[in-house]
Amino acid sequence: KNIVILISGRGSNMQAIVEAAIPGAHIAAVIANRPDAAGLAWAAERGIATVALDHKQYASREAFDTELAARIDSFQPDLVVLAGFMRILTPAFTQHYAGRMFNIHPSLLPAFPGLHTHQRAIDAGCKLAGCTVHFVTAELDHGPIVFQAAVPVLDDDTETSLAQRVLAEEHRLYPAAVQAFVQGRLEVDGLRVRHLG
Ligand code: GRF
Repeated sequence: KNIVILISGRGSNMQAIVEAAIPGAHIAAVIANRPDAAGLAWAAERGIATVALDHKQYASREAFDTELAARIDSFQPDLVVLAGFMRILTPAFTQHYAGRMFNIHPSLLPAFPGLHTHQRAIDAGCKLAGCTVHFVTAELDHGPIVFQAAVPVLDDDTETSLAQRVLAEEHRLYPAAVQAFVQGRLEVDGLRVRHLG
């Protein structure tokens, strides 16, 4: 199965997926919306095709998404993986990849969609935080949930210490989600995802 991974920065989740060497998963390309994304160099060093598509070069969100979809489709993906990809995608783009695009969000959705999730969990006095892998739909941070992982929020946690604890779980959870998809073990029923087998 061909996997295309989209990043915006360091790409630590992309690295975790590549290093997991998931049987049956071929990482066809890593694409970034910023030419300076550190993950591009990391992927290129490992012989993975890379594309930098600077969103600032496009007059509109639609124009960027159209070009992005064309570049993605040139690798004939079975699955598109958003990994630290910090762009709001147009409904047409998310529709084009319906049922075959993942995102990872650093909270236990539906709690804390959007940004600054760790500080918000600390400020809300949460005892648990975590991360969510979900299918991407037109509604931001809201698609059918594939996997979640919870971590404790400790009394002396800072945004950084909690982010590090969650990120470690992300690096375990995302490869597991890609593997489940590649093995055809996911069945989506509305907002619910059943794990077969
Ligand atoms: C991570 O917290 C992830 O949950 C969010 O973006 C952050 C950076 O991820 N989507 P990465 O290191 O670029 O994979």
